[in-house]
Amino acid sequence: MTLDRAHAEALDAADPLAAFRDRFIVADDGVIYLDGNSLGRLPADTPARIDDVVRRQWGTRLIRSWSEGWMDVPLEVGDRLGEALLGARRGETVVCDNVTLNIFKVLHAALGLRPTRTTIVVHRGEFPTDRYVAAEAAAQRGASISWVGPMDPDSVEVDPISPGSVAAAMHDDVAVVLLSVVDYRTAALVDVAAITRVVHDAGAVMVWDCSHAVGSVPLALADVDADLAIGCTYKYVNGGPGAPAFIWANSRLHDQLHNPVPGWMGHSDVFAMGPGYDPAPGVRRFMTGTPSAVALAAVDVGVGLLAEAGMTAVREKSIALTSYAVELVDGWLADLGVTLASPREPHLRGSHVTVRHPDAQALTQALTDRGVIPDFRHPDGIRIGLAPLTTRFADVHDGLLALRTLLEALQR
Ligand SMILES: Cc1ncc(COP(=O)(O)O)c(C=O)c1O
Repeated sequence: MTLDRAHAEALDAADPLAAFRDRFIVADDGVIYLDGNSLGRLPADTPARIDDVVRRQWGTRLIRSWSEGWMDVPLEVGDRLGEALLGARRGETVVCDNVTLNIFKVLHAALGLRPTRTTIVVHRGEFPTDRYVAAEAAAQRGASISWVGPMDPDSVEVDPISPGSVAAAMHDDVAVVLLSVVDYRTAALVDVAAITRVVHDAGAVMVWDCSHAVGSVPLALADVDADLAIGCTYKYVNGGPGAPAFIWANSRLHDQLHNPVPGWMGHSDVFAMGPGYDPAPGVRRFMTGTPSAVALAAVDVGVGLLAEAGMTAVREKSIALTSYAVELVDGWLADLGVTLASPREPHLRGSHVTVRHPDAQALTQALTDRGVIPDFRHPDGIRIGLAPLTTRFADVHDGLLALRTLLEALQR
């Protein structure tokens, strides 16, 4: 019977990516970690890589390390990330700053591509920082936001964003559309190619937030001819807490993109110290200030592991994990007042599964107290993050069994 632990163990035994878990530091404390969609695990090679950057490159080479490589690391790691995870061409990706600042930069750059238009289309249920920054960028440029999606941004429901709903929001004044590839609440995965086409047909610029997709869903940004994208590296990329984010910019646009934070690191000649700003050619112009060599080394390790696993295998495992979780939700939790907030169709989901329950916050705390770590999303969502390189089917089994046990206790 599929709900038996033996079934989960058989799935683990047959999992071609199972050995990748040993490439991460996993404490022997019995914790069941179901939050890799917030903070990915620590790769086993990361401490040594950081140690090398700190002790050798910084400790012995000192300032010389900037000319011995550090200056180019944001673009080199960007290229590796872009090729393995984004479907990018060389020279289209830079790793710098955080997602919030990168959204600000790319939205201003995108508005600059359509100077006569004054509307930014944003999903009403978009991640808060995206909404706040879009509203500020719009205000600074005399533009306004047109919200799509019928629902309350605080609710946890299946995301209705579709090519049709985006098409219905398009008009002659839309300069930019900002959407997430995978919804942070429900894991709803949108049709990136079809929506990009709809946006381009209306003459607007498409900006994708890939934060919950990168490292769990294969992306083909160059092939679908998207315009700009941003995303984080501390979730499925396992780059560590506060790891720098990325910006992807389609090479056909590079010469026209203006960075509204024109820092010296994005200058064409960083050490010229000239009187005015002259943007570097290519995506480097999106850099602002001095990058963290230490943090970039950690991102590089995470990217390398995903590149080695291959995004096709990662996606297959992700679909198998989320499908198994949905099976357990249906078999164990549905009659205890839990409903599924994530899409049922595997190809319409990213790599987490969200369930709803009126006591979600207390249940999440009780699970965490018992060593099962998902996360809570206001008002009633429990997100179960399934990281393909590190989550076992047995973890899904044990984590959801713990939730069932808590729910049964509530009923008594
Ligand atoms: C979709 C999305 N956008 C933006 C962010 C914020 O990123 P940062 O804190 O790096 O600015 C997150 C963080 O989880 C996110 O999930």
